[in-house]
Amino acid sequence: MAVAQLDLKREYNHFRIEIDRALAKVLKSGHFILGEEVRALEEEVAAYCGAAYGIGVSSGTDALYLTLRALGIGPGDEVILPSFTFVATAEAVAYCGATPFFVDVDLQTYNLDPNKIEDALTPRTKAIIPVHLFGLPAPMESLRELAKRYSLLLIEDAAQAFGAIYKEKRVGSLGDAACFSFFPTKNLNAYGDGGMVVTSREEVKERIKALRGHGSRERYIHREIGYNSRLDEIQAAILRVKLPHIDCLNEKRREVAYSYSQALQGVVKVPMEPLGSYHVYHQYTIGTKVRDRLREHLERQGIDCQVYYPVPLHWQEPFKGCPKGDMEGTERASQEVLSLPIHPFLSSKEVEEVIEGVLSFF
Ligand SMILES: Cc1ncc(COP(=O)(O)O)c(C=O)c1O
Repeated sequence: MAVAQLDLKREYNHFRIEIDRALAKVLKSGHFILGEEVRALEEEVAAYCGAAYGIGVSSGTDALYLTLRALGIGPGDEVILPSFTFVATAEAVAYCGATPFFVDVDLQTYNLDPNKIEDALTPRTKAIIPVHLFGLPAPMESLRELAKRYSLLLIEDAAQAFGAIYKEKRVGSLGDAACFSFFPTKNLNAYGDGGMVVTSREEVKERIKALRGHGSRERYIHREIGYNSRLDEIQAAILRVKLPHIDCLNEKRREVAYSYSQALQGVVKVPMEPLGSYHVYHQYTIGTKVRDRLREHLERQGIDCQVYYPVPLHWQEPFKGCPKGDMEGTERASQEVLSLPIHPFLSSKEVEEVIEGVLSFF
């Protein structure tokens, strides 16, 4: 039996009646851009995260870019971020004309290593972007202390971690602003592109709202060059169907993760969940020195698995000249990680199959 990484058809079938009804409502309203659905979703996501405002934008990448712009990041500035992340985190910095400064990750969590940040600070450092990679919150307490001590902005890349909790607070409420992606594979997912910035800083909210709509705060008055980067009503309506179920969907991912970890502990490196963190397992990522051979073995049995990320950003062509610290954890991670199938609709039979697939290799 083949096991897929993700199955969006099963998901749609599960929510079909509610989604079809929500879509029909939007289609009948004749209102497709920045209407009631986006406004309501912005409020609901902000309230869920424990922040004051949500601003719907067209993708997680734009959420990052517009946030950096709204916070005044520009040419000559340096922004600290991991190299072991999706390329969009660094692209957003580059779009602003600023320089990404890559810092290593902790090999236990695959998140930014706060102990390596002070070595990367220069008079040009303006911000830190921790990525809550694979759904596990970054060590925000240490990062907040550093940001405070050195007067740096702290922007959460929460694209992979909707619903994750750090020391009793949801991700999204732990820095100056947080950026979510609603790409179809994400834990809270649209059926197309979408994203949201969450912040409690009113001036940041106002600036992002202006930037996402052609730099306009009053209709047809443009005080700066902006963009067309809006979340649309159809995607917002789909997201509003799923948002009330997100805790349950994340719990199902955690059940799958628990079964994997029980069976695979001691055989491969299983994901860790530090005390006080609630991991939402956007990915269930194991580590092993024989990663490539294990992957081939699983794929031969029809078990879909992926490597996030095989080439760290400091080795990617556009970022080769960027400043960086030592990259020991990052480079090892890129050689040893393997993400197994995980989603809320995986059956127990499929979970067993994946476990047997891994165990049969060893
Ligand atoms: C860590 C991270 N940051 C940013 C993004 C960009 O989000 P999007 O694809 O919605 O632009 C993604 C996902 O694709 C991501 O995984």
